[in-house]
Amino acid sequence: MAKLILASKNQHKVMEIQDILGPAWEVIGADQLGAPVHWEETGQTFRANALIKAEFLRAHTGEGVLADDSGLQVDILEGAPGVYSARYAGAAASDANNLKKLLRVLEGVPLNERKARFVCVLCYIDREGKIHYFEGTCEGHIISEAVGAGGFGYDPIFVPEGYQQSFAEIAALEKNRISHRSRALAQFLKHVAY
Ligand code: IMP
Repeated sequence: MAKLILASKNQHKVMEIQDILGPAWEVIGADQLGAPVHWEETGQTFRANALIKAEFLRAHTGEGVLADDSGLQVDILEGAPGVYSARYAGAAASDANNLKKLLRVLEGVPLNERKARFVCVLCYIDREGKIHYFEGTCEGHIISEAVGAGGFGYDPIFVPEGYQQSFAEIAALEKNRISHRSRALAQFLKHVAY
């Protein structure tokens, strides 16, 4: 089994990445490393924040490290919340508060103007210290109220292109087949297979 240190404290991400990679990999989240870790996501781009997280844990562990920085871009909001997705409603905001704020901001915007995409940027620092980036997106739109109990974050208000249900209603297996995260991880897997 290949071990993969993941520079994320978001248990949902850790679980999704474990599920997507499957049993050949053991994904170890930052909170499972035994010592408390803390970083500031001060970057202006997904890449910059993914690099901050990967470099932090690389320095901490000396091992190869993968980081996931992701978020939701809404076209009519010129890409917001974007890199601020996790703190859209404030520094310590919950997923529910962030989602509520986005629904409020989009109130009255017609369905055909609610186009959005999830973006996932993975930064992998390999054992030799070389930095690699892998990116995945998933197009869709924002609906006007939260539906479904699965997933996390903005999943209850995001309907992927070609679907009628939100990411929180779709089976986890199906989300993990089409998501921004699984698309970025497919690139990562291709890279490590060489
Ligand atoms: P960060 O990458 O830790 O800065 O935070 C990413 C934020 O984007 C999360 O807190 C979620 O709000 C949102 N996000 C990223 N990926 C997903 C997803 O797959 N579903 C729902 N929300 C997501």
